[in-house]
Amino acid sequence: MFASIEHRAYQMVLLSLVALSLAFISPVNAAPPVASGTVGVGSPVQTTGYPIALQGNLQVHDPSVIRYNNNYYAFTGGVSIPYFKASNMSGPWESLGTVLNGPSVIQREGREDPWAPNVMEYNGSFYCYYAVSRDGTRESSIGVAITADIDRGPWTDLGEIIATGTGLFSSNYPYSASNAIDPSVLIDPKNGQPYLAWGSYWTNIWQAPLASQLTSVEDREDPDAVNLAYDILPGEDNAFLKSYPATREPDGTRPVEGSFMYYREPWYYLWFSHGQCCNFESTLPPAGDEYSIRVGRSATIQGPYVDESGTNLTDGGGTIIYGSNNNGVVYAPGGQGIMSGAETGDFDILYYHYLNEDIGLNYDVRIPGNS
Ligand SMILES: *[C@@H]1O[C@H](CO)[C@@H](O)[C@H](O)[C@H]1NC(C)=O
Ligand SMILES: *[C@@H]1O[C@H](CO)[C@@H](O)[C@H](O)[C@H]1NC(C)=O
Ligand SMILES: *[C@@H]1O[C@H](CO)[C@@H](O)[C@H](O)[C@H]1NC(C)=O
Repeated sequence: MFASIEHRAYQMVLLSLVALSLAFISPVNAAPPVASGTVGVGSPVQTTGYPIALQGNLQVHDPSVIRYNNNYYAFTGGVSIPYFKASNMSGPWESLGTVLNGPSVIQREGREDPWAPNVMEYNGSFYCYYAVSRDGTRESSIGVAITADIDRGPWTDLGEIIATGTGLFSSNYPYSASNAIDPSVLIDPKNGQPYLAWGSYWTNIWQAPLASQLTSVEDREDPDAVNLAYDILPGEDNAFLKSYPATREPDGTRPVEGSFMYYREPWYYLWFSHGQCCNFESTLPPAGDEYSIRVGRSATIQGPYVDESGTNLTDGGGTIIYGSNNNGVVYAPGGQGIMSGAETGDFDILYYHYLNEDIGLNYDVRIPGNS
């Protein structure tokens, strides 16, 4: 979340899901095309052919959902990382409290309110990767907390894995060019090697191998990192710089973030959110510039990832899988993840948050210190 600010507006964001088909990964049971229209200020609706969201009935932002012992666990960005449990993705959801006892042990601004958790079970332990950041800057870190008991905790906050802007090796490439938020971890099923992906704006999405205990980058000072996605802005300077200033524009203009790595034989998939996530307070961006969910795939975990038309994600590629639809019933979906259907014999599930015009599109954008 590049521009998500205080994350106070959970009532505007709903957990939702659609089932995925087996093809290039596209939604099934698509609703009939919906006519474009104008709702409120701007023109939020441009979409045809997307299925309406199945409601998750949980207010979340940048959700992470896992299935474990026939239950679902949903984690959300927010104060100390709230999480919930349900026997059905449609709820009802029971609060299990928060992952952290208080602020993250990472000593930087935003530690009370971590963003974009990504949770994974491995060998009987649960790993919750999260980000601490300040909106509109690269002053960011990714940390991890672990527990052996997802229902009761306690979680142990092991703190920082990578940092950008300032702190831990942040002047080393590619930390010097990226923004350490929106973590995603995938263990390569072919060889057991874990990888961390991260990134938001600036040079977009990066990936580096993790050490086998899953709590640090394998080579922290000089990671074997690859750039997985880089947006191309027509008519603008698209030079790829190895180093960026810590704070905002003009370098933080490429609206790609929220990556999620997923494997389904024989492909690795890189999902991401493209466009404006938030700040729809008074005006809406031109239709299509708001958040949408996109994907590319690769034969190897380190890429290159290409979209359905064969364009590299590092050349601005990305197939749009889900976007705003039904006249504002679903607006700016993103912050997505995939839950495997392998265990249940079902479809894989694409879950995400979105805004609903009837509930509200506004975020509280007043951020102390964001100027
Ligand atoms: C989950 O809830 C939905 C909506 O109430 C219902 O249609 C579905 O059958 C439920 N699934 C299970 C496995 O109980
Ligand atoms: C899994 O956990 C067990 C018990 O904690 C440990 O002995 C074993 O080494 C772990 N295996 C892997 C592959 O990490
Ligand atoms: C994608 O990028 C990779 C790595 O730079 C390159 O080898 C490959 O030829 C590119 N593929 C396409 C379709 O542009």
